[in-house]
Amino acid sequence: MQDLSLDEKLTLLTGKDCWRVETLGGKLPELFFSDGPHGLRTVKEGEHALKATAFPTLTVLASAWDTALAYEMGELLGEEAIEREVDVLLAPGVNIKRTPYGGRNFEYFSEDPYLAGTLAFSYISGVQSKGVGTSVKHFAANNCEHDRLFQSSEVDDRTLHEIYLPAFSLALRARPWTVMCAYNLLNGVYCAEHEKLLHKILRDELGFDGVILSDWGAVVDRAKSLKATLDLEMPHSEQAFSVLKAAYERGEITEEEIDASVERILALVRKAEEAKPLRTVTHTAEERHRAAVRIAEEGAVLLKNEGALPIKDGARVLVSGKKAKTGVYGGGGSSCVDSAFAPLPLDELLKRENGTLSVRYHEALFHDWGNLYGLYGMRGAVMRAAECDVAVLVVGGDGTTDCEGCDRASLRLSSVEEEFIRAVAAVNKNTVVVLYGGSAVDMSGWIDCVNAVLYTGFNGEGGNEALSRLLTGRANPCGKLAETFPLRADAALGNGFYNRYSEGIFVGYRGYDARNEAVQFPFGYGLSYSEFVYSDMTMSETGGEFCISLDVENRSERAGKEVVQLYVGQKFPLVTRPPRELKGFQKVALGAGEKKRVTFRLQKEDFAYWSPALDGWRVEEGMYTVFVGSSSREIRLQQQIKLSQRGPSQRDPQEE
Ligand code: BGC
Repeated sequence: MQDLSLDEKLTLLTGKDCWRVETLGGKLPELFFSDGPHGLRTVKEGEHALKATAFPTLTVLASAWDTALAYEMGELLGEEAIEREVDVLLAPGVNIKRTPYGGRNFEYFSEDPYLAGTLAFSYISGVQSKGVGTSVKHFAANNCEHDRLFQSSEVDDRTLHEIYLPAFSLALRARPWTVMCAYNLLNGVYCAEHEKLLHKILRDELGFDGVILSDWGAVVDRAKSLKATLDLEMPHSEQAFSVLKAAYERGEITEEEIDASVERILALVRKAEEAKPLRTVTHTAEERHRAAVRIAEEGAVLLKNEGALPIKDGARVLVSGKKAKTGVYGGGGSSCVDSAFAPLPLDELLKRENGTLSVRYHEALFHDWGNLYGLYGMRGAVMRAAECDVAVLVVGGDGTTDCEGCDRASLRLSSVEEEFIRAVAAVNKNTVVVLYGGSAVDMSGWIDCVNAVLYTGFNGEGGNEALSRLLTGRANPCGKLAETFPLRADAALGNGFYNRYSEGIFVGYRGYDARNEAVQFPFGYGLSYSEFVYSDMTMSETGGEFCISLDVENRSERAGKEVVQLYVGQKFPLVTRPPRELKGFQKVALGAGEKKRVTFRLQKEDFAYWSPALDGWRVEEGMYTVFVGSSSREIRLQQQIKLSQRGPSQRDPQEE
């Protein structure tokens, strides 16, 4: 760094262009960024985005509840980055789904920080194992799109620490190369210039020593953002240099502050250079596509099934809905991936999976309700549905309903789609709805009429292949919701100036459970073609660590996978706490009739809450319940434990 002049240092603090770090006329090697998170959107100068594999979105990856799969998807993204000479992937997004209205929910993992952070850890580890960096985003409390450039998220300290920061802190354990700040303000100060958020919390408390970069265009005052330790403004800003120089000359920023950021940027550039030997591509494009199919399969969630699925041999099947032809790869905005893959229509794939089926396609829903052509299309489909054994209706959102920069207008399907579902269900008792969406969908207008619902998220280029295998039973659905599907939800999008997080820590299932509120489908919920039985829960303590074991058995004739979830709740807390919080999960593969023992470990910090009074984490002594369930509301086994100063210990039976 000694040989860099002050002007060169200041030049380095903003990007060279939209995607690259400044090279200072060739003094430094090039470093190239690219979006993220479910595929590469690599924009080379003067070109459109290069073609890439469109993997399922993070909503789908999260619904798979599978850390190995998240690692694998990261690895494969890392390989695509290598092929495109990308050094840092601008992903993953770990913001919490505070409300199902969030326009970018499809890009995020979950409403639960533990699930989001654990999967992000694996994803980042996978990408970085390939010598490609990541950028965990958007730090922090960026939970809706409405007026994201101007609106302040007003969050109290406890809520920030318990809900909005833990996914980042878990992700940071994988040592991501960079963290991207958010567009919004937090408690009245832009995240890009928030000293407490970036310096005190991210660097001092959470220990992040890498590069903090701005979201694209998020910097308002470059001098203030530098003081807050935001190292790199992206993309290139014409004013950055003169603003910084003037601030330096006025003594508002010091050389030490400039040097600290420059040093972190240089370290990033060096890290990328040093990682180059790791950059080996071991999978073909075809293998990446097959992985995209597998992830879509694992992340689909069977929400209802009264027997129509899997489709029986020899059945006459009607497939209807435009999305059955094209699928829905992702939502709208910077995460859009331009895939080269031409999907086969679902009807053809169903025939291919099971040659005994007779499958026909009828496109309905050409236009809006009321349009005669649309009505005609719908009537045709309804008539055909009446002649079939099973009607598969493919409906839901896409990049126009779920998009960066704006929030969802409604949680319901369009009135045409709802009308269509009811009309088909009235003539066919085996109506199956395949539901696309970036987040929770309100199904109250039609769910009672249909036989089955398969929620598929936005599932990438392999979506139709995955669906055909799931619908025919070639694959067994095993996904579980990574967010609650509520009966009703507050949009909670703020008024454009501020957005008060008045629900505090009671986000998602934490809130629904505390209020004892009925929901459509709880967090962690998902059916399968298999049946799983839980038994024989035991607990033991060794050296302050608590070990919980139980048996899970597949009581069906089909191999399947169960996501076993572990929640913890305090019995008589001194401060208000959610009834239970996720602290562990495992996805267990079980052959027909097979039984396996599953073990979880809990540490003392798994029982902690954030105390604003102490400005730190606190674990209260006392009684806790450990719940094991197949969803947050289907608790199969539970036991109480008593925490003392020494750590957890099993409850003395005499105290029962
Ligand atoms: C998005 C980021 C993205 C960046 C670069 C921004 O608008 O918020 O998530 O990485 O653009 O495309």
